[in-house]
Amino acid sequence: MNLVLFGPPGVGKGTQGMRLAQEQGLAHLATGDILRAAVQDGTEYGKQAKAFMDSGTLVPDDIVVGMIEERITGNGEAGFLLDGFPRNVAQAEALDAMLDRHGMHLDRVVFMHAPEQALIERLSGRLICRACGFSFHRQYSPPRVAGRCDRCGGELYQRDDDREDVIAERLKVYRVQTEPLLAYYRDASGFRQVDAAGEMQAVYAALKEVVEH
Ligand code: AP5
Repeated sequence: MNLVLFGPPGVGKGTQGMRLAQEQGLAHLATGDILRAAVQDGTEYGKQAKAFMDSGTLVPDDIVVGMIEERITGNGEAGFLLDGFPRNVAQAEALDAMLDRHGMHLDRVVFMHAPEQALIERLSGRLICRACGFSFHRQYSPPRVAGRCDRCGGELYQRDDDREDVIAERLKVYRVQTEPLLAYYRDASGFRQVDAAGEMQAVYAALKEVVEH
């Protein structure tokens, strides 16, 4: 099963995508996570990407597309879940071309949506584990011990781009560059939508339903 999750920043792609990929044995390919790891490791890609990420704008397509191709072919039969890619129509076209080259296809493209006020509240309260990448929320899913990950005990931090001014820029970039993907994918047979405004467990159930049917 190969699938794409797309939607605005904070809608829950990472939270739900990590769980779904784990349960289905899929590779969870989150371009944001891959880029943040590259920044932390100080790689050439990371150095080029950092300023774009800090300002809430998109990293140039050639960097991101190059990172994806080697990874979509690396998980054998089980398949992959793409989270945060494609992010604009040019990346969607590049993805189609690479899938064609490898004789692969997308089984599902799932659009997750929620009202903008909910997105802002989710992003501004988010905490992430530095060690395992698991997401918490100060109000909606607080860690048992303040500042520590429930899963691995790692340190929790707030992402630099979860500041109010950068969130506003990311939402603007989403509307202009990512929302046109709706028109690109809407008529595909595997296209589905999920209302992601509810609580996490309900959203997960809705997501599972559209992935399986
Ligand atoms: P990226 O890391 O992909 O960020 P994003 O798309 O902005 O998405 P987020 O990770 O912020 O949100 P999410 O939908 O995963 O929400 P989450 O599950 O964490 O990208 C960051 C940057 O990298 C970009 O700005 C760009 O510069 C660059 N980049 C990445 N991909 C790129 C690409 N393809 N091309 C070019 N540049 C690229 O949830 C958010 C919070 O809400 C959490 O605290 C969570 O606990 C909570 N929450 C989740 N669901 C619920 C719920 N149902 N109810 C209550 N709280 C909830």
